[in-house]
Amino acid sequence: MKIQIITLFPEMFPAVLETSMLWKAKDKGLVEYNYINLRDFGLGRRKTVDDTPYGGGDGMLLKPEPVVAAIERAKQNDPEALVILPTPRGQRYVQSEAKALSKATGLIIVCPRYEGYDERITKWIDKQYSIGNYVLTGGELPAMIIIDSVVRLIPGVLGGETSAEIESFADDKTIEYPQYTRPEEFKGMKVPEVLLSGDHAKIEAWRKNQQS
Ligand code: ADE
Repeated sequence: MKIQIITLFPEMFPAVLETSMLWKAKDKGLVEYNYINLRDFGLGRRKTVDDTPYGGGDGMLLKPEPVVAAIERAKQNDPEALVILPTPRGQRYVQSEAKALSKATGLIIVCPRYEGYDERITKWIDKQYSIGNYVLTGGELPAMIIIDSVVRLIPGVLGGETSAEIESFADDKTIEYPQYTRPEEFKGMKVPEVLLSGDHAKIEAWRKNQQS
């Protein structure tokens, strides 16, 4: 999967994408990360990407020309890619969306900054997602969350293959059961007896029971 990220702050990404499973996915050739610096598409000598909102109001908005030019460049690299916009106004991002995105051949993620963007860019967007009811300073952190949740679902990325299928939120509402590892007793707290029983049917029933 080719993942192209349109951002004013590409330096925010490597610490996350070049670590652990996200790096491994890239190392195995299962995913490719490309950064497109929105500033390169800025207008004029000052490479302007923002402007004041019509009708007044606080802050600055991303201008449509640089954003659309960057999307079009990304589309040239990958015409089939899905274009995603993280925004507090989008539909709630949930596991079933991650699953759907993991089947795409490519993603282009546009990361807004400032107080938002000119609404006309949405004509070039396939999916708008909110990662929760709070407002962040930009789309970079939501983009990383989306990438992490998608890449781990690509076949071959996770070690324990089927775990992505059976785990939490598989249907957007179940919560994973509690898990324990050694030691059997830690600061007076014991691992639930049933998990030491070796009785797999009983363990499975207990785990189901713990899910809410
Ligand atoms: N940008 C700022 N806040 C956001 C949120 N909650 N979800 C997605 N994108 C955002």
